[in-house]
Amino acid sequence: MSLGKASRSLVAPVLGVLRPSTLSRSFAAAAEARAVLENELDSIRAAGTWKAERIITSKQGPQITVDCSRGSILNFCANNYLGLSSHPEVVQAGIDALKSYGAGLSSVRFICGTQDLHKNLEQKLAEFHEREDCILYASCFDANAGLFEVLLGPDDAVLSDELNHASIIDGIRLCKAKRMRYKHMDLSDLEVQLKEAQSSRMRLVVTDGVFSMDGDVAPLRGICDLAEQYGAMVFIDECHATGFLGARGRGTDELLGVMDRVDIVNSTLGKALGGAAGGYTVGPKPLIDLLRQRSRPYLFSNSLPPPVVGCATRAVELLLDSNEIAQSMTAKTMRFRNSMTQAGFTIAGSAHPICPVMLGDARLASLMSDDMLKHGIYVIGFSFPVVPKGKARIRVQISAAHTNDDIDRCVDAFIQTGQKHGVLS
Ligand SMILES: *Cc1c(COP(=O)(O)O)cnc(C)c1O
Ligand SMILES: *[C@@H]1O[C@H](CO)[C@@H](O)[C@H](O)[C@H]1NC(C)=O
Repeated sequence: MSLGKASRSLVAPVLGVLRPSTLSRSFAAAAEARAVLENELDSIRAAGTWKAERIITSKQGPQITVDCSRGSILNFCANNYLGLSSHPEVVQAGIDALKSYGAGLSSVRFICGTQDLHKNLEQKLAEFHEREDCILYASCFDANAGLFEVLLGPDDAVLSDELNHASIIDGIRLCKAKRMRYKHMDLSDLEVQLKEAQSSRMRLVVTDGVFSMDGDVAPLRGICDLAEQYGAMVFIDECHATGFLGARGRGTDELLGVMDRVDIVNSTLGKALGGAAGGYTVGPKPLIDLLRQRSRPYLFSNSLPPPVVGCATRAVELLLDSNEIAQSMTAKTMRFRNSMTQAGFTIAGSAHPICPVMLGDARLASLMSDDMLKHGIYVIGFSFPVVPKGKARIRVQISAAHTNDDIDRCVDAFIQTGQKHGVLS
């Protein structure tokens, strides 16, 4: 087939844009835009909220090497709760999938981007969560962006915890339902709002299962009771719970005994389940079917790459087989929490591997985390606006891959830096 005429007529207008006079005008516009952007960047630096990226030169794990220090440091800030990111069987499964299924699909799912590999992982995730069906996304952020718009229309209401994750907030913004926010984990405020939402067609209560800054667990039992009383569905985002909360690691709903009362669950493959990438929604089959037809991030974004699917599948299989890894993580979490509390620190939340060491002052949190790095311990300080003013903290995340010795070294470093900065007497 000759492209002659058609391609010339397509190219001509593009070349037209490159005429010298147009070029100089666009350079002026670009310079203006650059100044606007630099200004914005300066204001972020001035506000002290600049996020620098630390360059890691090893694989993810309890021991990592970073560009700015010699030797390895102990890492306590990954969401690698079960240590599966570099687990030999997970890595091998990725290599096998790469060899058998290739690097990627060059297609969205519904055109020519669905392999048996994808269907198998969706089925395993549905089984893991004991729900009817599952739909995979490139990320949980996408899953959250896709869900509300499909499920809810202008006659519906969505009731969302005020501290929900950004992806949920963005997802809710995309839908036309009436948006209502209830106070963080406040059941009586939720009830007030549910009463107000009685005139809507459907009601959906939306909450993180575990909130990532505090490691605190949503009061799901009470939420499910209210949802039943006022005729609402319940949706939970389980990114910081899937794989390790509850007796078999199924999540917050298992921990609180409400697996059969939570309608929809979103979670990520990017944290405990191998840490590569990907998100998913599990729930009633008609909802999942409809998401495959209508959910924009699913329809218009590339299929998950086979190696990523292979890694996640092996991670889920390991967890379906045994809860040993999660139990090991819980034991180390309690070792850290107990030693730190005994030493005189305040650790927020309870029993979750997110262990926020509460310090209050933003500068203190920042200075202390710098000093921790000098002791070879990598932890991050969080302050306003990520957490409320006066509630600055260092967030420590425990992994099954840490040894008891790693935990003890971290506690020792906290005690020494805590004494230096007058946090401990
Ligand atoms: C990490 C996280 C996400 C985003 O998940 P990705 O798969 O990385 O996009 C969504 N919700 C919550 C609560 C999270 O913690
Ligand atoms: C998570 O839930 C939201 C809201 O219910 C939905 O829009 C989104 O697509 C879900 N994310 C995933 C990864 O399933």
